[in-house]
Amino acid sequence: MLEIKINGNTHKLDIEPDTPLLWAIRDTIGLTGTKYGCGIQQCGACTVLIKGRPVRSCGVTIEEVSGQDITTIEGLSDDNTHPVQKAWIAEEVPQCGYCQSGQIMAAVSLLERKPNPTDKDIDRGMLNLCRCGTYPRIRKAIHSASKLLKEIS
Ligand code: FES
Ligand code: FES
Repeated sequence: MLEIKINGNTHKLDIEPDTPLLWAIRDTIGLTGTKYGCGIQQCGACTVLIKGRPVRSCGVTIEEVSGQDITTIEGLSDDNTHPVQKAWIAEEVPQCGYCQSGQIMAAVSLLERKPNPTDKDIDRGMLNLCRCGTYPRIRKAIHSASKLLKEIS
């Protein structure tokens, strides 16, 4: 039995220790905001935060992250009012939407490390793929979120 802590809640999991975290999050715990894209740590659709850093949850096992603080998209806010979520809505970033929870998690982490990111910082820091090509709107939303975060700090 392994314990993992997600969005402040501890879950005791009776599954194989080498189960990828993404499977535990979606299938065992039932938090489906984190998406399965490639399964090989390439696309970023499965991005969660572990100690504030973006981690591709398809590429780590539950044994490796047991006891660490994990945040999924559901942990940002109850009502989509996290400043990054608000900026995403205001800038109408998503097209199909599939990659977007991973993009938002990556953006939250980027803004924690770089509260005033330049376009270059965003291009270097945001490595998640979007097949719909929403990159210009993602960049715009990150600048908006940076302003919103300053207003509330
Ligand atoms: S599903 Fe994890 S990186 Fe693509
Ligand atoms: S919005 Fe469709 S893949 Fe990114």
